[in-house]
Amino acid sequence: MAGRFIAVEGGEGAGKTTQLPFIAACLERAGYSVVLTREPGGTALGEEIRALVLQNRQTGMTAAAEALLMFAARAEHIEQVIRPALAAGRWVLCDRFTDASYAYQGGGRGLPMARIAALENWVQDDLRPDLTLVLDLPVALGLARAGRRGPADRFEQEQADFFERVRMIYLERAKRNPMRYRVVDASHPVEVVRANIERILADWLPER
Ligand SMILES: Nc1ncnc2c1ncn2[C@@H]1O[C@H](COP(=O)(O)OP(=O)(O)O)[C@@H](O)[C@H]1O
Ligand SMILES: [Mg+2]
Repeated sequence: MAGRFIAVEGGEGAGKTTQLPFIAACLERAGYSVVLTREPGGTALGEEIRALVLQNRQTGMTAAAEALLMFAARAEHIEQVIRPALAAGRWVLCDRFTDASYAYQGGGRGLPMARIAALENWVQDDLRPDLTLVLDLPVALGLARAGRRGPADRFEQEQADFFERVRMIYLERAKRNPMRYRVVDASHPVEVVRANIERILADWLPER
């Protein structure tokens, strides 16, 4: 049987990377073999693209170039990692996926959503996450956490209104498709967020 594909989304400092190993452990306890991966990245080329888009070497990158780089990395990631894992019956747990392109390049940068959708259809065909967890929290709280984590990357240098648009797009997309999305209040302490995610997963996982 094919595996399932779970994406974890949310703004800066929401706790995606913190919660990911807990989610993987939860799925493994339920008996699934899990592939943990991330975007941009997940392949050798993808990680090089990640460095290009996150590091501060590039100033003045156009929104179109940024979106195309994200989808170039995604094309590699899907073909080399995600589809083979799913076909082998493994579960894929990904730190960010295409909702981040809608939120950041669409919402944040203002690219027309139809262009993101065209790239999504081209690069992914019918592949969509089976479940997308949106870790939601007030922008200021997320940025404060991210600031404590280390120096700001190319996105973290954006202004608060950029991240308000990012947050709004995530929430809008979740609201429009409640079958696929679950919104998690990420403003609570790590252990509380973790317990809430585990409850969501317990409800969502197939009976076995
Ligand atoms: N629920 C939480 N409460 C307080 N701090 C948190 C919480 N979740 C994560 N952090 C801390 O905030 C920072 C950002 O978390 P991280 O998991 O890297 O966020 P993301 O991957 O969503 O950007 C890290 O230093 C992390 O230890
Ligand atoms: Mg992270």
